[in-house]
Amino acid sequence: MSVKSFNKTIISFIILAGFFFLVPGANASENSCIDCHKTLTPFIEEQQKFNQIRIRHLEINVGCSLECHEERVRQLATANYQQWSESVHALKAVTCDACHGGDPKQPTKEKAHVNFKNTTDPESPVYYTNVPKTCGKCHSNELANFETSKHYQKLESLQLAPTCTTCHAPHTFTVMNPENFRISCGNCHSVYKKIAPYDIPLKAEDLLGRVNKLKFNIEMTRQDIFWAKKNGTDVTQAEQYADNALTELQNLAPMWHEFNLTHFEDQLDAANKDIRKAETLVKPTGTPTSTPVPRTPGFIGLTGIITMLATWYLIRKK
Ligand code: HEC
Ligand code: HEC
Ligand code: HEC
Ligand code: HEC
Ligand code: HEC
Repeated sequence: MSVKSFNKTIISFIILAGFFFLVPGANASENSCIDCHKTLTPFIEEQQKFNQIRIRHLEINVGCSLECHEERVRQLATANYQQWSESVHALKAVTCDACHGGDPKQPTKEKAHVNFKNTTDPESPVYYTNVPKTCGKCHSNELANFETSKHYQKLESLQLAPTCTTCHAPHTFTVMNPENFRISCGNCHSVYKKIAPYDIPLKAEDLLGRVNKLKFNIEMTRQDIFWAKKNGTDVTQAEQYADNALTELQNLAPMWHEFNLTHFEDQLDAANKDIRKAETLVKPTGTPTSTPVPRTPGFIGLTGIITMLATWYLIRKK
């Protein structure tokens, strides 16, 4: 490596390092909640053993001192930091105080925890029924749609319905995969729990699976548009359709929160139509255009592979 390029490497490294310090969230040490909760010692070994005994006592209903409960909360406070630190929220500097309140400029626990309500207190911002409003401070589209849903109405009246954190577990706040729906939606929508409609888990799984296929088709069509443009084709119209499909796709996630599956399916169909129109315009000639989006590309792919293997085998045999 020449000295010049070595210097270049060093400089880019410094710029990169600087970038990481400037990116919000990459260095959140202005925030006392993070600073302190990060370092909360879970337990030294002896305490850990002691705590195990206490937990076992609790399980068999042996009375426990206040101190014991504090230890358990302390353990939660550390575990929650660890989960949070791996979440998208940590990446975007959405710190503990954004949901829990308190004063992140105060270094002591007592002052930082000012006005804290217990999570079981109906006035706590993370109390079950208050969660939508707390999350809605930032996720206003999701909240607005959620508020129109049966889920929200039932949450207000019965507390039987899911709140945001039923589906986006604290503190990782991940987005569920369709495969998880059978269990999670099925927790309520099943003949056992008697919350109709019972076919919800399968329907939801199918719909979200189709959203993933739509994402894939949009990506593929964008590649086709790119190559068609390079070859001098006028792609203005195709780009328009692809953009429409992308906008419709982006509307789907917040719209999901209405839990109106018919409305959701209509929007999904509209996006599929647009991306097919774009596809037809830019598909390299010779290949069949406007084939309906295959519902099971896995099956078709598999058939292709089997055909290829069979041909290869026959040629070898000859
Ligand atoms: C100097 C250390 C310290 C600071 C600063 C601190 N905490 Fe804590 N926090 C703790 C400890 C220790 C616990 C464990 C329970 C206890 O000892 O009260 C805890 C518990 C909690 C709990 C659960 C307790 C409950 O009542 O449900 C939450 C939520 C929490 N902290 C959030 C925050 C937020 C938000 C901030 C910033 C505004 C913050 N903490 C700042 C030390 C701290
Ligand atoms: C995006 C919002 C959000 C952020 C950010 C967040 N929390 Fe929470 N937290 C919640 C919600 C909601 C609950 C209630 C969970 C429940 O009902 O199961 C909760 C509950 C808790 C509890 C009570 C114990 C429990 O699990 O029920 C503790 C302790 C806690 N959080 C600590 C933290 C700490 C420490 C941070 C920062 C490292 C943090 N939280 C960041 C939303 C958040
Ligand atoms: C202070 C603002 C803020 C609050 C409060 C907040 N979030 Fe977020 N959340 C964000 C940001 C920023 C992102 C990153 C994606 C984006 O820009 O939309 C995000 C992303 C997410 C994601 C997507 C995660 C992924 O893997 O793609 C989910 C799910 C989520 N939040 C749920 C919640 C829930 C549930 C609550 C309430 C308990 C909540 N958020 C509260 C700002 C917030
Ligand atoms: C019954 C389950 C359920 C409830 C309740 C729920 N969500 Fe979601 N949420 C989902 C699913 C499923 C997705 C993924 C949708 C998709 O991929 O199109 C999602 C996606 C998201 C995303 C990511 C959106 C994106 O652009 O990728 C955010 C943010 C979010 N939800 C926030 C919330 C908030 C805030 C609430 C409460 C007001 C909430 N969710 C309530 C199931 C739920
Ligand atoms: C904590 C319980 C609970 C969970 C979990 C749950 N639901 Fe529901 N859901 C309800 C209740 C309660 C109703 C209202 C039923 C009624 O009106 O009789 C409902 C109604 C619905 C409806 C019908 C809305 C209408 O307008 O008729 C749909 C669709 C729905 N849920 C979708 C889902 C999906 C998808 C999931 C999983 C991602 C899910 N639900 C998870 C409790 C739940």
